[in-house]
Amino acid sequence: MYNAFFGFTQNPFNMSPDPSFLFRSEQHEEALANLIYGVQTRKGFIALTGEVGTGKTTMLECLRDFLGAQQIAFASLFNSRLTVEQFFELLAYDFDLRCNRLSKTEVLLSLNNMLLERAAVGRTTVLIVDEAHNLEWDVLEEVRLLGNLENRRGKLLQIILAGQQELDRKLEAPEYRQLKQRIALRCTLRGLTPPETIEYVNSRMARAGLKNQTILATGLMEEIAHRTQGIPRLINAVCDNLLLTSFAMVSRVATLEMLDEVTDDMRLDYPRKPLRADSPFDAVKRPAEYRFRVE
Ligand SMILES: Nc1ncnc2c1ncn2[C@@H]1O[C@H](COP(=O)(O)OP(=O)(O)OP(=O)(O)O)[C@@H](O)[C@H]1O
Ligand SMILES: [Mg+2]
Repeated sequence: MYNAFFGFTQNPFNMSPDPSFLFRSEQHEEALANLIYGVQTRKGFIALTGEVGTGKTTMLECLRDFLGAQQIAFASLFNSRLTVEQFFELLAYDFDLRCNRLSKTEVLLSLNNMLLERAAVGRTTVLIVDEAHNLEWDVLEEVRLLGNLENRRGKLLQIILAGQQELDRKLEAPEYRQLKQRIALRCTLRGLTPPETIEYVNSRMARAGLKNQTILATGLMEEIAHRTQGIPRLINAVCDNLLLTSFAMVSRVATLEMLDEVTDDMRLDYPRKPLRADSPFDAVKRPAEYRFRVE
């Protein structure tokens, strides 16, 4: 809606996990490197956890791009509310196994054969499970058993479990002890720091066509970092609404008042802090020289 007004070629704060907008913060870079390293060195189980909206699915999308480019076969399960039967059916479907997909025994036999054939010619095979915190105990147990398939040179199937922090908690429970022990690599995503949030916002706007944006002042972006705790999905939602509000008011610069309105409307909960006398938000509060209206 506001793209033409601000000069964007596409929406800078789209909610989809689009790798073309990837911001390589240190932790995202490290997480992706871990996923790739874990797969390449056949570590078996890798866990990627993190709070809601911190970029787990985005990392998996980047990994899928990498696997695709390397011609590494993979299956991805994104709907984790599955029964055991559905799990094997989807697995067979994703790996294109030629067998009765409704028979767990046939799927397992066919999968094992495929994995052995691929391993024999030095090929890696990957299973990606997103939203793994939702997996029921019996499905998670099947996933664990798949992780046991190995030949003398290592694991036949590399399994990535990505999910919210409940996954970490689940893995601490006694019944998941065996699975926890098998996880060779673990990475966690957190919110971005304030300087990273500013870089993140600027990088998304640059990717959408505005190289040196002047819509959001640094002080305002610091306040956005504070109110969103650096969670990328929240940053996107706040910035999108802020640009929309700014556009509706025909203003090419967003203000603190607009941010207040947006975060109030979103019922965003954040720790309140007193404004200091030397607060950088002064620049935002004193908008006259920064703000102009298009007549
Ligand atoms: N490193 C990043 N670079 C660019 N955009 C990102 C990054 N991390 C997250 N995002 C953006 O934040 C939003 C949420 O990311 P994503 O869906 O990957 O989070 P998630 O951790 O999978 O969330 P959930 O816990 O709800 O599954 C998406 O719009 C995505 O584009
Ligand atoms: Mg996700």
